[in-house]
Amino acid sequence: MSDFSRRLIAWQAIHGRHNLPWQVSDPYRVWLSEIMLQQTQVTTVIPYYQQFLGHFPDVASLAAASPDDVLARWSGLGYYSRARNLHKAAKMVMERFNGQFPRTPTLLAELPGVGPSTAAAIAAFSFGEQAAILDGNVKRVLARWAGINGYPGTKVIERELWQLATNLLPDHGIERYTQSLMDLGATICTPKKPACMACPVQADCIARQQGRQAELPTPKPRKVSPERQTVLMMVEKSGKILLERRPPSGIWGGLWSLPEASSTLEASQACQQRFGLNVEFDNAEEDFVHVFTHFRLTITPLPGSVISQTALAHEDHLGWFSQAEALQLGLPTPIRKLIASRRG
Ligand code: ADE
Repeated sequence: MSDFSRRLIAWQAIHGRHNLPWQVSDPYRVWLSEIMLQQTQVTTVIPYYQQFLGHFPDVASLAAASPDDVLARWSGLGYYSRARNLHKAAKMVMERFNGQFPRTPTLLAELPGVGPSTAAAIAAFSFGEQAAILDGNVKRVLARWAGINGYPGTKVIERELWQLATNLLPDHGIERYTQSLMDLGATICTPKKPACMACPVQADCIARQQGRQAELPTPKPRKVSPERQTVLMMVEKSGKILLERRPPSGIWGGLWSLPEASSTLEASQACQQRFGLNVEFDNAEEDFVHVFTHFRLTITPLPGSVISQTALAHEDHLGWFSQAEALQLGLPTPIRKLIASRRG
């Protein structure tokens, strides 16, 4: 028997959660509680569980109920597909399994709403079957303890975790061991600020040894942000700079900003057409990158001076501002920095 499971079982006996109403060996009650606990916390589940059992004391009564009645008793717990699956599963137990819950995880997992980990929990708690659970909490515990790198949502890492969970099973006391994993994940090995000092397996926990509790399990990889490019024109006339108010929606919606051009070559033409300005542009300044939530914007600042004005652009989304005036406006951060860094 693994030393890991020995320590967890000893810890659960003293520090684990006891006297939960579903800590019985009746598969109907265990199944019902596990479904309720899939997406809902223990304290919320307890009163619903009691009431539900009051109305549907066994799988036969649940199978015989109307769908509306089942939904009504579930009402308030949320994730109502759980209630619909529960009802279907109860009928399946009656019809296909003659009213007796099957005892192996494989058969239990054929019930609607019962995945591999829930099936293992039901088999372990109600029949003492040697079955490994692997829900989100257990993945966190094992990934930290064994120092498993890689997002657990991938097939490779998930397989590795199942293998480890199976290898660690105790040769007796599967009920308490299964509960200990759930309790450790819920009360000690929490996602944030785990209470490592109170953990029964802290001595050989890889994440703790390496101070990597916050990094494990590896989070879902973020998609690489798409890249966008823009040229921002810094057009000056008599010491003032031309700003344009951005359209109300889109990036920097409604803020004053430097006018955009799609390329340095297009800039002169854009100033002619859009502002009635003849502008002579200098060489572009060095690009810099501004990171948004969903993309990265590479900005090319392009300074220039007005040579002549062909039409008087007098539109309220355009304006000439001194540096001091510009800095009083609502400006996007990178634009503010650009303007602030210019001499006088
Ligand atoms: N979460 C899922 N199953 C549980 C159980 N049997 N006890 C406490 N929390 C749980």
